Amino acid sequence: NNKKHHLPIFPFREDLLRAITQHQILVIEGETGSGKTTQIPQYLMEDVRLHSRRNEIGCTQPRRVAAMSVAARVAEETGVKLGNEVGYSIRFEDCTSERTVLKYMTDGMLLREFLTEPDLASYSVVIIDEAHERTLHTDILFGLIKDIARFRSDLKVLVASATLDTERFSCFFDDAPVFRIPGRRFPVDIFYTKAPEADYLEACVVSVLQIHVTQAPGDCLVFLTGQEEIEACCEMLQERCRRLGSKIAELVVLPIYANLPSDMQAKIFSPTPPGARKVVVATNIAETSLTIDGIIYVIDPGFCKQKSYNARTGMESLIVTPCSRASANQRAGRAGRVAAGKCFRLYTAWAFKHEMEETTIPEIQRTNLGNVVLLLKSLGINDLIHFDFMDPPPHETLVLALEQLYALGALNHLGELTKMGRRMAELPVDPMLSKMILASEQYKCSEEVLTIAAMLSVNNSIFYRPKDKVVHADNARMNFTVPGGDHLVLLNVYNQSGFSTQWCYENFIQFRSMRRARDVRDQLEGLMERIEVEVVSSLEDSVPIRKVTGYFYHTARLSKGGYKTVKHQQTVYVHPNSSLFEEQPRWLIYHELVFTTKEFMRQVIEIDSGWLLEVAPHYYKSKELEDSSSKKMPRKQGKTKDELG
Ligand code: CDP
Ligand code: MG
Repeated sequence: NNKKHHLPIFPFREDLLRAITQHQILVIEGETGSGKTTQIPQYLMEDVRLHSRRNEIGCTQPRRVAAMSVAARVAEETGVKLGNEVGYSIRFEDCTSERTVLKYMTDGMLLREFLTEPDLASYSVVIIDEAHERTLHTDILFGLIKDIARFRSDLKVLVASATLDTERFSCFFDDAPVFRIPGRRFPVDIFYTKAPEADYLEACVVSVLQIHVTQAPGDCLVFLTGQEEIEACCEMLQERCRRLGSKIAELVVLPIYANLPSDMQAKIFSPTPPGARKVVVATNIAETSLTIDGIIYVIDPGFCKQKSYNARTGMESLIVTPCSRASANQRAGRAGRVAAGKCFRLYTAWAFKHEMEETTIPEIQRTNLGNVVLLLKSLGINDLIHFDFMDPPPHETLVLALEQLYALGALNHLGELTKMGRRMAELPVDPMLSKMILASEQYKCSEEVLTIAAMLSVNNSIFYRPKDKVVHADNARMNFTVPGGDHLVLLNVYNQSGFSTQWCYENFIQFRSMRRARDVRDQLEGLMERIEVEVVSSLEDSVPIRKVTGYFYHTARLSKGGYKTVKHQQTVYVHPNSSLFEEQPRWLIYHELVFTTKEFMRQVIEIDSGWLLEVAPHYYKSKELEDSSSKKMPRKQGKTKDELG
């Protein structure tokens, strides 16, 4: 507990509480690691002026991992069991109870709570934390919370942010005062490379080892873009340390990324053994959401994975791009928390100045809005053009979202929510999935479709493909192939697994993902009951499943050299991991489009074009679905799996 008193925020405890008492909305700015996330909610809990036990304190986090790990930390600091007084709530996982007074949650969860409680009556304080991240859900929360604060004068709203953008937050919230927690920051020396690095992963590994061998004690933090890269980097580091053996001091290599099991996540916070050096290899989760003590050295290759969205074609892509200068500066700052530090940027000073954007574009301007538009419509917000956005989304993106919801039957031709739309909004999944789940009742295949939806929502992490066992892994995967397509393969895996660790291990299936899929499925099934959809199954063949799977919105037909999407005439390809990669059926429904090396359809299923007129006569014209030739097109997809990595 002594440690709490040494955090930069501690001397301002009383001032801060006074400011919160005096103002309804307060923007709080403080260097990452100053104690905003872990301490402010505790101060509020301890203060009777601000907090009666009747109401909850909610604190939003853009990331699931942060919500869980911070809740665990605060539970520990306050000496309660996680899930009792202090808990967390993330999609498909609720770790709270009747006793919970402080709830950390993802921003998306608080957004969904508006559906059941439009004035957030059960909260006395809402903290929108990590506001600078500007995630889609945080941005929507800004608008909604600003609105309810007008008539809920008893509600306190805190907007907490790293030292970025705070003036804009204040301005958006009608000039709310900004409370600044002065940073205690040591100087950080910044080093650039003289020439661009061809292979930044290799450059990271080399830099870590150089630091380890030549620099004074102090832990090291490396920023990479995602799980695969992080795992590769950790393996390379461990391998080289093994080879060097006792010639070097111990190097403790620890990964951190969103899908890492939570016991592994916790390890990054454990103290470094004497004489050793800790290296944490992280996604930009360690940029501002998590603070690891003892970091003196930062290695920044200057990249991050960023979502982008093409509103003309509806294609979402996750691409590795240079991060912004603001991000790079946050990363560097992580080195100067406990002592003077060093940041090694694996790019040139010129690149920093000329190739990086000043700040990151808010997510709302580069993502699909289907989900959020459905939610806002369900909250009775009809005029989205005039919604109070801090930064409005592009007009075309809004229009496309409205079109999609109309096609799915969630909105009528006036753009008003339909009964179907209302039920779709109850399910915390993408509109296409919720439509598919609701439609499955009529086709008597809800048992199967629920499983498919759950498997799709665990995000491409079902199959395990370690580098040294690629052939075995691919063979194992082939064994699950069933006619029809990937959705049916997923169903097959789920039904065969029996949730046995042994079975998963032998079949190169990620046990954790399976367990999660089961949780998701259970929850969806529970929700079905609430919206009175019968869970039925009476299957002789897979046709009904294929009719509703992915519903009908994303369709593509075989065309020269690949496929063309039916609605946008965009050229796309079957992903090489798909069970239909070789087969190339004439008509497909795909779950998602992703751009990696090409525009790939991921999770595809074969359909008969005639079905489209049956399930969506309002959306397809028979002319669009005429076959141009009766023969199968020659296969022209040149890439092999290995080329695609
Ligand atoms: O939110 P902010 O960045 O201002 O700081 P914080 O997350 O509240 O972190 C305050 C302190 O708690 C830092 O020194 C962290 O290292 C520590 N912390 C921790 O040790 N374990 C966690 N799971 C979370 C925070
Ligand atoms: Mg924080």
